[in-house]
Amino acid sequence: MRILGIETSCDETAAAVVATTGDAAKPWTMLSNVVASQNDIHREFGGVVPEIASRQHVRDICGVVEAALANASLDLGGLDAIAVTRGPGLVGSLLVGVSFAKALSAARGLPVAGVHHLAGHIESIFLEHGAIELPAVVLVVSGGHTSLYFLPRPGEYELIGRTRDDAAGEAFDKVAKLVGLGYPGGPAIDRAAKNGNDQAVKFTTPRMTHPDRNDPKATLAAEFSFSGLKTAVVRHLEKRDEGATLTEQEKADFAASFQRTVVETLLKNTFAVAEAYGAKSIGIAGGVSANSRLRADAEAQGRAAGIPVYIPRLALSTDNAAMIAAAGLRMLERGAPSADFHAAADLPIS
Ligand code: KG4
Ligand code: ZN
Repeated sequence: MRILGIETSCDETAAAVVATTGDAAKPWTMLSNVVASQNDIHREFGGVVPEIASRQHVRDICGVVEAALANASLDLGGLDAIAVTRGPGLVGSLLVGVSFAKALSAARGLPVAGVHHLAGHIESIFLEHGAIELPAVVLVVSGGHTSLYFLPRPGEYELIGRTRDDAAGEAFDKVAKLVGLGYPGGPAIDRAAKNGNDQAVKFTTPRMTHPDRNDPKATLAAEFSFSGLKTAVVRHLEKRDEGATLTEQEKADFAASFQRTVVETLLKNTFAVAEAYGAKSIGIAGGVSANSRLRADAEAQGRAAGIPVYIPRLALSTDNAAMIAAAGLRMLERGAPSADFHAAADLPIS
């Protein structure tokens, strides 16, 4: 089975082909993975402009799908199914992918699966590493989401907790802007932090508890909050002489300290939840899982705690269509998906 994945939920137009292998330990293989990034277009605005993003998707989608097919040495006749992100995301952007996928499905008589974007991020772990030990706890950490899921069986995603305010990626982006490190913020902070002192600025982090204190897992810090950290950065910057710009070293110190705080918070909660839920493995996915410190610290903590940690390669961490194709294969595995779906800006995972 060969499936074409399409992803247009934000500012990346992406298409990929993933095939089944018949090997239970490594059931999927990626034949191509094409991403047209709009970073250069949105940079001058300091963030994604939704209307511009949708229009750019319309310009790029045909070429990106053609490239994904060509890189997989296939034509349309070689496809067995289509998967497309149906939400959550920017609705105008989602509409481009969903309309394209449905039109192709109708024209070629192919089944089409409407995929939840976060299911895609979760399945990127299985696409990369095959059948990991279950049950697992998976941290999805991206520009729009910071959520912990419990996975009892393949394709079953139970939400344990999420951020109460900003997503971690959003905090990276906002702090990079405040400090003057450029766009997109996550990779800029990651780069700058390499030359900085991660103890230079001390940020306090809030302790989160479960709202239901009668729950046996109530003391767990399963939820996140990053808006306070952003405010702390603003306060630190305000304390400086008015008008004074940060030196490169100060920027690097800020980046390293902020990154350390975010990574410590993410991993503390994830490992605590994994232990409480008896998870046999931990997965980390989403754009922020591209962060070099998060990757290194997660793997080191996993080794120390004796629990395997699975993170996809960088190209599968940030938004891509191979993960959407993989999630589509998961849906097909679990029964024929309905073609009766629409683009949805807000969408629960199941
Ligand atoms: O998953 P993703 O590509 O798109 C969404 O679904 O949101 O995640 C994008 C987010 C952005 O906030 C970006 O700044 C962040 O991932 N990001 C990073 C890194 N690379 C991307 N954050 C920290 N370090 C990185 N190396
Ligand atoms: Zn994403």
